[in-house]
Amino acid sequence: MRLNKFLASAGIASRRKCDQLIGKGLIYVNGKVVTELGCTVNEKKDKVFYEGRQIILPSSFVYIKLNKPKGYACTAHDEKGRKTIYDLIKSEERLFSIGRLDYDTEGLIILTNDGDFANKVAHPKYAIEKEYHVTIVGEIKESELAVLRKGVVIDGERLPSAKVEFLSTDGKTTKLSVVIDEGMNRQVRRMFEAIGKDIKLLKRVRIGQVRLGGVKRGDYRDLTTDELNALVRAE
Ligand code: URA
Repeated sequence: MRLNKFLASAGIASRRKCDQLIGKGLIYVNGKVVTELGCTVNEKKDKVFYEGRQIILPSSFVYIKLNKPKGYACTAHDEKGRKTIYDLIKSEERLFSIGRLDYDTEGLIILTNDGDFANKVAHPKYAIEKEYHVTIVGEIKESELAVLRKGVVIDGERLPSAKVEFLSTDGKTTKLSVVIDEGMNRQVRRMFEAIGKDIKLLKRVRIGQVRLGGVKRGDYRDLTTDELNALVRAE
């Protein structure tokens, strides 16, 4: 396996950043500095060190989908001491989330100990679709939907366009489907702020072809082979 892939799979950084670490002479293989970029290692035999620590690949990769409830932070250690998604998962492995959801957003998060895969799926270049169900207070006009679809302008910056579909309304609240393929900070919330609509519930229901499906709030399960392969093909 190429050394940059080995390091990225262990979650050190993206392959490109790992190449920089190799180029800077910061990676040791079997006690010797390696600076050659295309270098390969035998992951079962070779001893790879970075910052004085041996880098070991997880024995088997884990890929799970979690239904994050509202009120959980997507970080390993929350500065404010709040509950995190890692409080919900019983795993000995160090898991990385592929993208994040706000503290107040619920729904689908994919986690894995395969850092290389996580970096690739999250990369904007692959533009993997994310679908949200958004419940807003009140109703929405066709003209407002058109603004959201075109891309709202906030502080002089135009947010990317989105696919927005009306789902239902009971007069008091309205449910919409919003599909984006970028992951800008608070993108969906900022879209609705821009048209003066309050969000009551924001839930991610799909990443690429992986759907939240029947996973209960706070629960998680392994991705199926089909789901995993669909993500790999989308890369
Ligand atoms: N957009 C948001 O505003 N928040 C999220 O958590 C995800 C997408």
